[in-house]
Amino acid sequence: MPMQTGSAVSRTLWRFGYSARLLKTNRFRTAASNTSFPAVWMLSAQYSGRIPGLFVVVKKNRFFTMPETVEDKANLELYSPHPEVRGMTLLNREAFKRTVAVPVLKVKKEIVNTLLKSLKHTVLQRPGLKRVVEDPEDEDSRLVILDPHKIPEFSLGESEQEVLKQLNVHPEVSKYNLELTYENFKLEEILRAVLPEGQEVTSGFSRVGHIAHLNLRDHQLPYRHLIGQVIIDKNPGITCVVNKTSIIDSTYRNFQMEVLAGESNLVTKVKENNIAYELDFSKVYWNPRLSTEHGRIVELLKPGDVLFDVFAGIGPFAIPAAKKKCHVFANDLNPESYNWLLHNCKLNKVDNKIKAFNMDGRDFLLGPVREELSKELQLLKEEQKTSFHIVMNLPALAIEFLDVFRHLLAGEPCSTAGLPTVHCYGFSKHDDPAKDIQERAEASLGTSLDGRCSTYLVRNVAPNKEMLCISFQIPADVLYKRPCPDEANPASKRLRTSKDFSEEKLLS
Ligand SMILES: C[S@@+](CC[C@H](N)C(=O)[O-])C[C@H]1O[C@@H](n2cnc3c(N)ncnc32)[C@H](O)[C@@H]1O
Repeated sequence: MPMQTGSAVSRTLWRFGYSARLLKTNRFRTAASNTSFPAVWMLSAQYSGRIPGLFVVVKKNRFFTMPETVEDKANLELYSPHPEVRGMTLLNREAFKRTVAVPVLKVKKEIVNTLLKSLKHTVLQRPGLKRVVEDPEDEDSRLVILDPHKIPEFSLGESEQEVLKQLNVHPEVSKYNLELTYENFKLEEILRAVLPEGQEVTSGFSRVGHIAHLNLRDHQLPYRHLIGQVIIDKNPGITCVVNKTSIIDSTYRNFQMEVLAGESNLVTKVKENNIAYELDFSKVYWNPRLSTEHGRIVELLKPGDVLFDVFAGIGPFAIPAAKKKCHVFANDLNPESYNWLLHNCKLNKVDNKIKAFNMDGRDFLLGPVREELSKELQLLKEEQKTSFHIVMNLPALAIEFLDVFRHLLAGEPCSTAGLPTVHCYGFSKHDDPAKDIQERAEASLGTSLDGRCSTYLVRNVAPNKEMLCISFQIPADVLYKRPCPDEANPASKRLRTSKDFSEEKLLS
């Protein structure tokens, strides 16, 4: 095992929650199993020229302890398509056919159902494959196909023997030539058989409505059209597959893409947190991995609160907030996003609750946001419960916009009661991402946020690259260029954290 460097160790500690600033992580890992499975007994009868059917009777009285079934690896070995498909770039579904030998039990047709119930963990379970077939030699009998991984070397285990004894079935296992076709193989099995051996097979994709979105590596590119078609075949509802052809560095955070298979229609419908959106995936930003984060922020809002969404996209913060009866000001520089935002406001019947803007985020903050805040904060009474939230989800750049808040309301009557809470997103490749984000926000604001902010890990974007959200109330001396008179009251001075918001929610 390679040694971890000091920075890798601190990064790991951070990930496991050693940073006081880290409130919650959203990380999921899948545990990959390394267990291999003996496949020596498996026959490919196709090579011996045998047709499907019963051909060998194996009598064995040895008892085995069953190995634990390891779905992925074991299945890959048994259920792998014909080896000749390796290197195929134009999909030929016929070429995947292959015949494998599987164990079967011959039983009288009257007891088939009882046997299936009693041996349900031993019987073959695979979509598209029959578990019971006719017996070519005896019309009163049926052949029940068993899972070869549960019957190693065609030997029944003790428990199966016991079941058969009770049902008065002769415990004889035969071999049956089972024909597997393209339809019986899973996406990953097909791609593993086609792509170069030993190289990574990516069958993962994000789904946006009817579109599957891939990010293929160089070695996969020659197979891209085949990969696209297999994804369509194996995933009902997906009718278009696209591959990202440039990194996401355009101003509008959308990316160029190539349609690999299916219809070239990139206008789609999605549902997130029970709200429907429509969008043109080739022209606007949409990331299905942000649904939890959108929900988390909207949870913090109360009816009557005001939300300013500086980089709103097509509205995944703005529209649910408006549905929650907040007053929303949503902005996006991309005219396409702005148009889809308007469209989705109408679609969700909140067009009267959202004021939409199509301008640069800085101009939006200096113009409509400033105007609204100075109007609203003057009217705000101390006991009033309205909160002001400013969401800034443009992780590559948003922190650089924070300097706008410096003295934004200089000269206006000052009150700590309604200081807006900013939720600003950023990427970090730092060993301590929370510290990094806080320091960068502080540099932009020109003040310390120590004890006055919370950071939240949103997601791991790439190896060693995290997306975080820093939340803080804009300090009065930043916003008004002076402390507020009521700041002498320590209760009003303390800034609310996400924990406070959650507690408030619990209390309300
Ligand atoms: C990462 S996306 C986030 C969209 C949406 N808030 C979401 O969570 O899905 C950032 C959005 O900011 C917009 N954008 C980029 N630069 C901008 C700028 N200078 N001013 C305003 N919007 C901008 C992009 O068009 C894009 O829709």
